[in-house]
This record gives sequence, structure tokens and C-alpha cells, in this order.
Amino acid sequence: MSFQSLARGLFLLPAFLSAVEGAPTKRSTNPPLRGSEALVGYSSTEKIATGTKPDIEYSLVPGQTANPDLGLYLDFENADNPQPIRGGIGSDDPGPRNYWYDRINSDKLAPPGTDNGLTINAQWPLGLSHNRLGIDNAGWARQENIELMPAATEMAGVDMRLEPGAYRELHWHVAAEWSLVLNGSCRIQAVNENGETFIDDVSAGDVWFFPPGVPHSIQALDEGVEFLLVFDQGSFDEDNTFLATEVFLHTPLSVLAKDLGVPVSAFDNIPDDELYIFQGTPAPEDIEEQNVTTASGVIPRTQSYSYHFSEQPAHEVAGGSVKIVDPLTFPIASNFSAAIVTVHPGGMREIHWHPTSDEWTFFIEGQGRATLFTAVDSATTFDYRAGDVAYFPQSNSHYIENTGDSDLVFVEVLQATEFTDMALGQWLASTPKQIVKDTLHLSNETLAALNTTKQYVVSGKT
Ligand SMILES: *[C@@H]1O[C@H](CO)[C@@H](O)[C@H](O)[C@H]1NC(C)=O
Ligand SMILES: *[C@@H]1O[C@H](CO)[C@@H](O)[C@H](O)[C@H]1NC(C)=O
Ligand SMILES: *[C@@H]1O[C@H](CO)[C@@H](O)[C@H](O)[C@H]1NC(C)=O
Ligand SMILES: *[C@@H]1O[C@H](CO)[C@@H](O)[C@H](O)[C@H]1NC(C)=O
Ligand SMILES: *[C@@H]1O[C@H](CO)[C@@H](O)[C@H](O)[C@H]1NC(C)=O
Repeated sequence: MSFQSLARGLFLLPAFLSAVEGAPTKRSTNPPLRGSEALVGYSSTEKIATGTKPDIEYSLVPGQTANPDLGLYLDFENADNPQPIRGGIGSDDPGPRNYWYDRINSDKLAPPGTDNGLTINAQWPLGLSHNRLGIDNAGWARQENIELMPAATEMAGVDMRLEPGAYRELHWHVAAEWSLVLNGSCRIQAVNENGETFIDDVSAGDVWFFPPGVPHSIQALDEGVEFLLVFDQGSFDEDNTFLATEVFLHTPLSVLAKDLGVPVSAFDNIPDDELYIFQGTPAPEDIEEQNVTTASGVIPRTQSYSYHFSEQPAHEVAGGSVKIVDPLTFPIASNFSAAIVTVHPGGMREIHWHPTSDEWTFFIEGQGRATLFTAVDSATTFDYRAGDVAYFPQSNSHYIENTGDSDLVFVEVLQATEFTDMALGQWLASTPKQIVKDTLHLSNETLAALNTTKQYVVSGKT
């Protein structure tokens, strides 16, 4: 039914009901909330009027008439009326529907012919996460966790902003925290269970790690900061961390006084609620002024909580670049392995899977798409943009293809002691040719073209 005919139906409904009930047909009387039992089922006197199918105006975008199994990317962003059609499959859609979603999720509206069955939902746009706004315009935070993405059981993430001088309150948590600075810079500090101290300044592209239970704080420097946090528990909830204010608010004052060796009056001015994200005194420019050194000493450099990843040049590959940080170079983050991947337009993070871990991915720049293939027989293609989270379970194959005209940049995070993947191309190239040939019926020419080197990112046409 078109929107017009639906509207007409609704308009006529009151008059129709009055006639059925034999009530006065005065238009000014407001019809009751319910109709009557006379509306149930077939009626020989009230047959629905049918006409010819109304024209729906649309034009197909490039690639939309191609063989569905080619699975070309369909750019619906500027399509007036994108349609769920691919080659000879699908049909038009008069609505109702959400055109905003359809325009940026063409692989949902008109999936490749190779998609099949049901996989997990491997996408969460942080744009759909409820934002938590900090007090006094100090910042905000929005998160993805198992409540929003039920299959993302091993990791959760938070995107957080702090204005210049603002703090993420002193706190700790049960999960381990890994972070990538996305913009600006901040000062991070912590004290471990041996009383050893740590302080450092990090800026866009750098990484930090805080082990479970180690209390820490984050304060934005002059330009403010935005950073991504990844936790090693899918159920992590950023609203449920152990805050300094709350441990004071929820301990008897006499106990606090005894514990810290001060009078009860020392706590007259403690905040009466948590602060979480709040404005602070700007940090002194010279970090030495805040370098607390005690008899316990500082956390040794080899166990440092920061890694200046921004200073590590990217490894260039055919279609873009890759750089890896994992416990081989950043040992304290003993189960966090990550890669920042840049894919040039037309390029693609090659088809691969991670044998030892699920993958939690955050899109930093650009747009791309991925097909998650899961045994047996199921595949779903997802369209991603900067600000989206992707999740690919352990050993489930996927690629990430740049679908835009600028670089696509994302970070893949694993729970692993080393960043590893199995690449489809390298695997087949390194398998006896006869075995591959008997299985996939590939020609000698095709077998000869396979490359035994892992590509990471392949180049291609847009
Ligand atoms: C941070 O974001 C601002 C505003 O978009 C941009 O001008 C600046 O270049 C970004 N800085 C970094 C280091 O990405
Ligand atoms: C803090 O002081 C210790 C001991 O002098 C020194 O090793 C460390 O480099 C200092 N850290 C910073 C951030 O200045
Ligand atoms: C790393 O994380 C995985 C997945 O959560 C877990 O199974 C494994 O035990 C962890 N390994 C270490 C050394 O903590
Ligand atoms: C393909 O290669 C195999 C092994 O070298 C050879 O025996 C076979 O004749 C080749 N097939 C064709 C169609 O060239
Ligand atoms: C295989 O891939 C590597 C890395 O991209 C490249 O340098 C090499 O030329 C390729 N080899 C062949 C035979 O195409």
C-alpha cells in the first residue's frame, strides 16, 4: 500500500465506522478509540478497492543492475529513492522506511547475492549510543558494550572527550583498559600496587594501558583530548567504575579519619556526588612538577603504561599501510594486540581471520564495508563509517574494503599476546596446488597468480 492510499484509508475510517454502527455521521464527533466486531474478517458488502500499482520513481545507481554475486558496492548516499534491488533480485520499496539508514547502509538494503543466512550483528555506530555529558561542559563519553552489541563478549569500548584542563576522575576498574588517543593530548598518571608511580603526556596516535585495579586519572592538556578506550570485558560499563569521590562518599567518615590519620572535619568539603568528567586546574606545563617520586620508586620503563605509537612510522603495503602494537613491544598490555590500518581509496584490508581472538574495531576516518563469514553458510555485509564499532568473532573471516574516495583508517584490537591473522590469499598460495585445484576448480593461471606473501592491504579500483 502506498503512503497515499494508507492516508486515504485512515481519513475514511471514521465515516466507515459510523456507517457500520449506524451512528450519526456527523464529522465533528470524535470517533471512539475502538471500531467494532463488524470489522472482523470478510464482508460481502465492504470489499477493498484495488487499482493498478502506482509508479514509484527511482533510478538505479551504478552497479545495481550487475550480477548480484559480484556484490559491487552501491553508493546510495545521493540516491533520491534507493531501492532494494540487485540485478534480477529484490523489488522496489514504497515505504515506510528510514531513508537516512538506507542511504548509508546499501549492503543492508540491497545485500550482495553472496550474503546468506543469519550472522551476529557486527556493527554498532557510536552515533546510536546514549551520550553521557560531563558537568560544566567538561566533556562527554559514549560507549559500546554487550548491552548494545550482544555478541561482543570479549571487549567493550568508549569514546571520550575532555575539554582543556578537564579530568576523567581518579578511578579504577575490574577490567584492563587499553586506549588510543584520537585527537589532542592529555596527561595520564597512575600508582601500582607496589606504590610505584607513573606519569606521562600522550597525544593523538599514542596508546596507554592500565591493568585491572590500578587507579589512574586522565587530564586534558591545552588543546583538549578525545580518546578511545577498549576494555577486555564485553560487559564493561563505563558508568560502573570505582571512583575516588564514591569511595569517600560510601565509607564512614570516622573510618576514613582513622585510615588516613586526620580529623573527621578534614572531609567537610568532599563532593556530595561523583564528578566523573569535570573541569580542573590546568596541569602545569612542566610534567616534572607532577612527577611524584617516593621511596617505592617509579614504574620501570619496560613496564610503562604508555607507548608512543604516534612516533612509530607505518609499514607501507600495496593498498595502504599498517602499524602494529602488541606485547612484543608494549609488554605491560599483555593481552592487547592492535593494528592501525590505512586503506587508500579502492584498496581493501585483505580477507583474513584471527585464529586466537575476537576482533574489536573502531573506524577513525573514511568509510568501508566488511562481509562477516561464519560457519556454516552464513554471511552478512555491513557498511561502516568513522565513529562505528565493528566486531568479528575469533576465526570468522572478513575483509574491510574502502568504499569512499578518501583514506579509510581503523584500529583492530585483539585479546592476544601477539597480533596475528590468517590471510586467505597466503593460505591458498602456500597449499599444494593440486589440493587447491581439486577443491576450488581454479585454473593453472589463477593458481600461479596467488601470492605467498601476506598482503595486509591490497590495492584496487574504486
Ligand atoms: C583534532 O581535531 C581538530 C578538529 O577537527 C583538527 O583540526 C585537528 O587536526 C585534530 N588533531 C589531530 C592531531 O588529529
Ligand atoms: C620522574 O622521576 C623519575 C625519577 O627521577 C624519572 O626516572 C622519570 O623519568 C621522571 N618522569 C617524568 C615523566 O619526568
Ligand atoms: C587473553 O584474552 C583471551 C580472550 O579474552 C583469554 O581467553 C585469554 O585467557 C587471555 N590471555 C591472557 C594471557 O590473559
Ligand atoms: C596445469 O598444471 C598441471 C601441473 O603442472 C599440468 O599437469 C596440467 O596439464 C595443467 N593444466 C592445463 C590446463 O594447462
Ligand atoms: C607478492 O606480494 C609482495 C608484497 O605485496 C610483492 O612485493 C611481490 O611482488 C608479490 N609477488 C608476486 C609474484 O606478485
